[in-house]
Amino acid sequence: MAEKEHIAVLLDEKRVFKPSKEFVEKTNVKKWMDKHGIKTYDELLKKAEDYEWFWGEVSKEVVNWIEPPRKILEWNPPYANWFVGAKYNIVHDALDRHAKGDKKDKIAYIFEGEPGDTRKITYGELYKEVNKLANALKKLGIKKGDRVSIYLPMIPELPIAMLACAKIGAIHSVVFSGFSALALRERINDCEAKAVITCDSFYRRGKKVPLKKQTDEALEDAPSVEHVIVYRRTGDEIPWDEKRDLWWHEIIKDMSDECETETMDANDPLFFLYTSGTTGKPKGVIHCHGGYAVGTAVTLKWVFDIKDDDIYWCAADIGWITGHSYIVYAPLILGATSIIYEGAPNYPNPDRWWEIIEKYKVTILYTSPTSIRLFMRYGEEWVKKHDLNSIRLLGSVGEPINPEAWIWYYTHIGGKKCQIMDTWWQTETGQFCITPLPITPLKPGSATKPFPGVSADVYDNEGKSIKNAGGNLVLTHPWPAMLKGLYKADERYRQTYWSRFKNTYLAGDVARKDDDGYFWIQGRADDVLNVSGHRIGNSEVESALVSHEKVAEAAVIGKPHELKGESIVAFVVLKKDVEPSDELKKELREHVAKQMGKIARPDEIWFVADVPKTRSGKIMRRLIRAKVLGQGTGDTSTLANPDAIKELEKAK
Ligand code: PRX
Repeated sequence: MAEKEHIAVLLDEKRVFKPSKEFVEKTNVKKWMDKHGIKTYDELLKKAEDYEWFWGEVSKEVVNWIEPPRKILEWNPPYANWFVGAKYNIVHDALDRHAKGDKKDKIAYIFEGEPGDTRKITYGELYKEVNKLANALKKLGIKKGDRVSIYLPMIPELPIAMLACAKIGAIHSVVFSGFSALALRERINDCEAKAVITCDSFYRRGKKVPLKKQTDEALEDAPSVEHVIVYRRTGDEIPWDEKRDLWWHEIIKDMSDECETETMDANDPLFFLYTSGTTGKPKGVIHCHGGYAVGTAVTLKWVFDIKDDDIYWCAADIGWITGHSYIVYAPLILGATSIIYEGAPNYPNPDRWWEIIEKYKVTILYTSPTSIRLFMRYGEEWVKKHDLNSIRLLGSVGEPINPEAWIWYYTHIGGKKCQIMDTWWQTETGQFCITPLPITPLKPGSATKPFPGVSADVYDNEGKSIKNAGGNLVLTHPWPAMLKGLYKADERYRQTYWSRFKNTYLAGDVARKDDDGYFWIQGRADDVLNVSGHRIGNSEVESALVSHEKVAEAAVIGKPHELKGESIVAFVVLKKDVEPSDELKKELREHVAKQMGKIARPDEIWFVADVPKTRSGKIMRRLIRAKVLGQGTGDTSTLANPDAIKELEKAK
């Protein structure tokens, strides 16, 4: 937040939704409270302020260390080590323990492909598949600490590949299958992956997406990659490099279905996941085995109240953090049954999701406001065709949920009987940080309060805690699934999250705290767009535009969008003698899609003679945005080119 004045409080939602007493009594969190003699939600929050006691105590509920920790937390700002000295591997709890125990025949994943093909995979089967691939990776020379990029769609082989890497101590870096070849290349090169795991193609909206072809394009300039492992999903003809490419089914054919799980230190890296920041290059967020396991599993167990007979569906993509934490690791640690759906939510009809819920009797649904708004647009008729009575709990993530969408979700999907868990968190936090528990009274549009053992606040620009006004959302104490820095970017880590307030994590969001201590997240404070719940750096889109031969300069802003949260609007300065045209706009939109993936394709492109900049050359996106939204631009005299503001009016 650059401005001094606090951001206006636009929303004043007053409704409160309380869970029923019978419901509360049966929740996992209530049982834990009873065990510890804790009577109320407020008392729980208070008690958990003894952070090390709390996380040490709850860790016992979800993880089984190979060797226990010497110390719960070692905090050397800005780096935290949780469960210091513990020997561990997350796969031990997510898989091995279940396959050797009473969950062997329980279904871990129910897979539904877009064309309607289905598979059910038990913990015992998952274990064998993971072991075979893990052995094959070892045979290829992949060792502890090596990086493996995974570029797979929503098929069970994606969690299998992740677990196989983790099992042998290799670090996975999953790249969302909707990203382009160039985005994949950048991520492979940043972590110097030794191998890539992908598939021939997959189904999306009735078409096939040629993933192997895109991988080949990425690998035209990715010298670290020695092997490409290809899973056969569709049976399409694909390009093949005899020296480099290997079929998944061939390399696992003669492998044993037992594989020893590598013993790791609790603080050894488990994965890197790239996320957008305010400067061009994506940041490689590092998560480790131990703290991440505890943070994700405890939050899932309490917030979504996972029980043995639940059919849980987190409808995100595993390519994002939501899927890493809450489709793969936490549900597996809890021995849950999860749904994995390959395709588009509205294919072939807008009731595909409701059909899946009815078919598998889904009990918990976790999705994003963007999806909810999409379904709202199609109308309740599509929902009413199906029996959704099995649902008992709902969740939302990725962006602020507007009260209208909240009420629609509550009424039409939850049948006015389910609480909605609006979970605020980030790629960096790894786990839910501000979120209701099923025992929390809800206010539509508010993510309510910090999870017990997480300390959040809203600071003004001087670092003073404030109420009833928009300010900087901060986390004031380390939490277990906290990122362990950015890969090869210590300075950027310190600068981005820790330089604003001493020893305090800056989330980059604007939020307000009300009189009851409820948090209302208002959106990003920095130059990062939130499009359909996905973070996209303004500067990344700008550099994609500028990489086009006809573009001299570009400024990208987000504009409120009814469905997507924000739409991408680009102001483009063309090179000398280049004629603006509608064809060129189209070409530029496609160029960005090719560079980054379709999610980053600008919705609007405007040609301008100049874009406003500071004297140090920084593009003043805030001013452009204010101008576009018809708000005052204030004093512009400090700009290097104040006339550029007026130029925006002449945009073509
Ligand atoms: O702006 C916040 C928004 O999503 C950002 C994190 O994006 P990402 O790392 O991609 O992770 C998304 C899924 C965890 C946050 O900085 N955000 C996430 N959840 C919420 C939210 N904004 C409002 N309410 C939420 N529940």
